[in-house]
Amino acid sequence: MRALTVDRSAPGGLRLAEAADPIPAAHQALVRVRAVSLNPAEFRYVLPQAPDGAVIGWDAAGVVERAAADGSGPAVGTPAITLGLSGAWAELQAVDTALIGTVPDGADPGTMSTLPVAAGTALRALRRLGPILGRRVMITGATGAVGRFAIQLAVRGGAEVVAVSRDTSRTEDLLALGAHETVTDPAATTPVHGVLDTVGGPVLPAAYQALGEGGVLVTAGAASGQDTVFGPGALLADPARRHRTIHTFFLMDGGGIDQDLTWLAAETAADRLRPHIARRRDWAAAADTIAAVADSRLPGKAVLTLS
Ligand SMILES: NC(=O)c1ccc[n+]([C@@H]2O[C@H](COP(=O)([O-])OP(=O)(O)OC[C@H]3O[C@@H](n4cnc5c(N)ncnc54)[C@H](OP(=O)(O)O)[C@@H]3O)[C@@H](O)[C@H]2O)c1
Repeated sequence: MRALTVDRSAPGGLRLAEAADPIPAAHQALVRVRAVSLNPAEFRYVLPQAPDGAVIGWDAAGVVERAAADGSGPAVGTPAITLGLSGAWAELQAVDTALIGTVPDGADPGTMSTLPVAAGTALRALRRLGPILGRRVMITGATGAVGRFAIQLAVRGGAEVVAVSRDTSRTEDLLALGAHETVTDPAATTPVHGVLDTVGGPVLPAAYQALGEGGVLVTAGAASGQDTVFGPGALLADPARRHRTIHTFFLMDGGGIDQDLTWLAAETAADRLRPHIARRRDWAAAADTIAAVADSRLPGKAVLTLS
């Protein structure tokens, strides 16, 4: 098969080359990949550690080529999205059936490929806030891939959404997604019940200070790449705002994500959830796109289609 293999002599550290076909375990289906989406963390955390020749990548959309030998998961020919721990940037991917969602017939694979990591994170991290119906929820990194899905899903959950973004040129865009209010500084608003933070650095303690009594903050990312420093006393009890909590988050916590991926795909196909594709390229001409994602320069998802 062809794959974007790790090759440190190539621009961006990736080269389209021949690689060995994956051999699925009994609980894995073999998926023929049609499109993949890229995540900044793949370049920040995975690519630097991967040996030359490795096939990495998390998000893919395609069609089940061979069902899992143990009988689990979708049948041959089913359109699917996958959340692999590696191996997505290839023509064939072996994926645990617990990490495969099914996709409505006729849905665009490029659009669907944007869902697993970004929309999966938004959905599962918002759940960690508890009930949000009628409550104020703050989303940081609002223009990011996770942030844009989180705004839409929090609104669907009945929240009044405060979007935090550095980029004031995107205010109308964020309001159109459903945000009720946009701010550049988490401190510049009235108290919120929940925060989903994907930025870290100084944004995280500032967002924590925005929590009201009983508020919950989920820290799901560190897009800023900056250290997070809570000043002296910042985490001590505040008699006016008791029981504030901070949760760490990892998408794979809580086990299988197949049902969540299937739901996200159905919502997207029905146009009730809208991915923002900032750039779409053939994977044979993707060097500029790979560089842009690696530098966190794209406001939205980058999709590569497999020619
Ligand atoms: N814990 C998990 O399991 C999990 C899963 C998925 C993703 N993540 C993490 O979540 C974070 C967001 O992922 P993503 O795919 O949404 O990334 P993204 O599309 O690059 O969005 C990140 C957003 O963060 C904001 N930001 C603020 N300061 C920034 C800075 N100095 N540099 C870059 N961005 C900055 C930007 O929004 P504004 O301009 O609007 O402020 C940007 O759009 C990443 O750190 C990722 O690793 C974690």
